[in-house]
Amino acid sequence: MNKKNFIITIDGPASSGKTTVARIISQKLNFLLLESGNLYRAVTYLWLEFQNKFLENLDNLKKFFEQEIKIELLPSGTNIYWKDKLLKDELRSKEVEEKVSEISAIKEIRNFLTEFMRSFINRNNLVAEGRDMGNVVFPEADLKIFLTAREEIRAKRRYKQIIGKEKRKNLYKEVLENIKVRDRLDSEREIAPLIIPEGAYVIDTSYLTPEEVVEKILQKIRQR
Ligand code: CDP
Repeated sequence: MNKKNFIITIDGPASSGKTTVARIISQKLNFLLLESGNLYRAVTYLWLEFQNKFLENLDNLKKFFEQEIKIELLPSGTNIYWKDKLLKDELRSKEVEEKVSEISAIKEIRNFLTEFMRSFINRNNLVAEGRDMGNVVFPEADLKIFLTAREEIRAKRRYKQIIGKEKRKNLYKEVLENIKVRDRLDSEREIAPLIIPEGAYVIDTSYLTPEEVVEKILQKIRQR
């Protein structure tokens, strides 16, 4: 394969630090950042809006993406527009958070989004972040990273992110529960489950700052 671009994949469970670390690296290297979770979240958001109408068959979903969805890849992240409206908080709502792993397990949706994401491959240097980037979507990646961290630490991180925006009783418990359920669904699903890709560099981020994780990854890149 005639490869001119450089691809780094970063996979891992919820709140393992992928997004923060991926963003620092893509900005330092001036690579584009593919946040694949945003695509799965967007499909989930649309599913909730339309109550499954546009997902009844794959052609509808394809057409919908071509006609109404615009994806913008930048070193700072992946923006998704629906009819020129940037979807942001919508993708992080409680409803999307609860539904996304179920929608992500649907074969037709995974196949469609996998193809869609690969269409970026020939054009750009990429940091691709998600659950199956190194394993399924970009198996030929130049560097594969797998981030992990203890469950309670990941729940605390997510809790800190949302406590300013949402105040509900038992929020920490709810967040921990959501992380557990998503981890289970993501790891146990039949297609593209969350696993450590072969040859991946595994980093436990439980007691590391994002900068320390970034430094470890940059060291690996320098060794290439
Ligand atoms: O930020 P966090 O890791 O919690 O979530 P995310 O990366 O935005 O992904 C949200 C959900 O989308 C995950 O829990 C997976 O169910 C799904 N997903 C997936 O199945 N495959 C990917 N490549 C990325 C996300």
